[in-house]
Amino acid sequence: MDICIIGAGYVGLTTAAVLADIGHTVYCTDVDEDKISKLQQGIIPIYEPGLTEMITENQDRGKLFFDTDSERYMAACPFIMIAVGTPSAKNGSADMVYVKGVIAVLSQTIRSPKVIIMKSTVPPGTADWMEAELQGQGVDKRLFEIVSNPEFLREGTAIEDTVHPDRIVIGAKQSEAAMKVRELYHTLQTQFLITDRLEAELIKYASNAFLATKISFINEIARICDAYSADIMEVSKGIGMDQRIGAKFLHAGLGYGGSCFPKDVNALNYVARAKGIKLNLVQAVKKVNRSQVDIYLNKITHSLGKRSNKPKIAVWGATFKENTDDIRYSQAIALMKKLVRKGYPVYAYDPLVSPKLSSVVWCSNPYEAVEQADILVLATAWPAFLKADWYKVKALMKHPVIVDGRNCLDKSTVEKYGFEYIGVGRP
Ligand code: UDX
Ligand code: UDX
Repeated sequence: MDICIIGAGYVGLTTAAVLADIGHTVYCTDVDEDKISKLQQGIIPIYEPGLTEMITENQDRGKLFFDTDSERYMAACPFIMIAVGTPSAKNGSADMVYVKGVIAVLSQTIRSPKVIIMKSTVPPGTADWMEAELQGQGVDKRLFEIVSNPEFLREGTAIEDTVHPDRIVIGAKQSEAAMKVRELYHTLQTQFLITDRLEAELIKYASNAFLATKISFINEIARICDAYSADIMEVSKGIGMDQRIGAKFLHAGLGYGGSCFPKDVNALNYVARAKGIKLNLVQAVKKVNRSQVDIYLNKITHSLGKRSNKPKIAVWGATFKENTDDIRYSQAIALMKKLVRKGYPVYAYDPLVSPKLSSVVWCSNPYEAVEQADILVLATAWPAFLKADWYKVKALMKHPVIVDGRNCLDKSTVEKYGFEYIGVGRP
């Protein structure tokens, strides 16, 4: 099949690579000329394990193309997949400005039958609204079907998640359109849920809100563990062994960030409020997540309280999670900003990024950051940090104290090296 993808972001690029790998001919377009020019030369603008290889292989075998001319490929391809961003607007709703832009182009382009697949995360009712918009702009209803096909990939494991998804959700009005989309994924061994469009749209929001809930829940339980000197790692393991609960997304730490959970929790709240429904649970999830940074801030200031008046803080990690270069809504950065506001000098290191942050000094390696530091905060669980040379780290630091923002270090190991270990819910 010939597929045109609009938007070469994390979702658009990964989906383009996997669909090309399946055997389709994919034309991935983006308004960003610089991004497209780099992609045409095989330079991938984001860091995602395995993505560069999959993209270049499929470019070489003539299955994957990048272009800025979205109109041309929208007109030529029977499948059009929308993967533009839907960021949070000021009022918490999903900002649909980019989707609206795509609809405007589509209305000028559709001359032959199209299946329009919505990959971006959009509020319930978007597919119906798009259909009405296109018809309102004079497009013959018989020429297009809008199908909701939300994406569940995680950054850092995007390829694996797309090739081996837990499920593929396809929301369509006509079963024929749903089957056409299902056929695109014919080589993937997974379960398919064919449903209506509204339900598919809500499944995406509800899934992300539920996962965020699990994280905030375990973070609250970690607070109880702190108070009773219990180990959250054991508690989490025990909870997760119940198959009704499941072990995943029960890892306590600095809380969730990224381009999806914070925005989708807000957007779900917004769509509920628009119908007069107050989502108490979802609002609490957000509140707990926000205060999680303060929990760590208190632990850090409490630990530093005993020492010099201008202690040096080292922070390892800036991205919202490991194995990505994405810093959107990163809790690591939220923490750094709060530390700076408190007047602490912050020396930071991240394997991929060094964003401009007032009063944060970026170091060229993790060891440089800890020189003469009074405390080390591990804010992102990059694999390299877990394998650090703790002997060297201890020798470089002024005081050997580690705050584990991701509860990802083996406590007894770092303690053996002589560090004081501070996590959440780790006695
Ligand atoms: C995606 C989804 O689309 C979003 O709804 C979901 O919730 C999270 O994942 P993501 O891939 O992370 O977003 O977005 P981003 O990395 O911002 O990429 C979007 C791309 O679309 C950008 O490269 C942008 O230049 C491009 N774009 C935007 C277009 O090509 N055309 C437009 O009209 C607008
Ligand atoms: C998420 C969803 O998982 C994915 O299905 C959706 O398509 C996009 O949003 P992503 O944000 O890329 O994916 O990464 P994810 O692995 O879900 O992590 C989100 C945040 O939660 C990160 O900051 C991570 O560190 C944090 N997290 C995750 C925890 O704090 N504890 C956990 O147990 C799991």
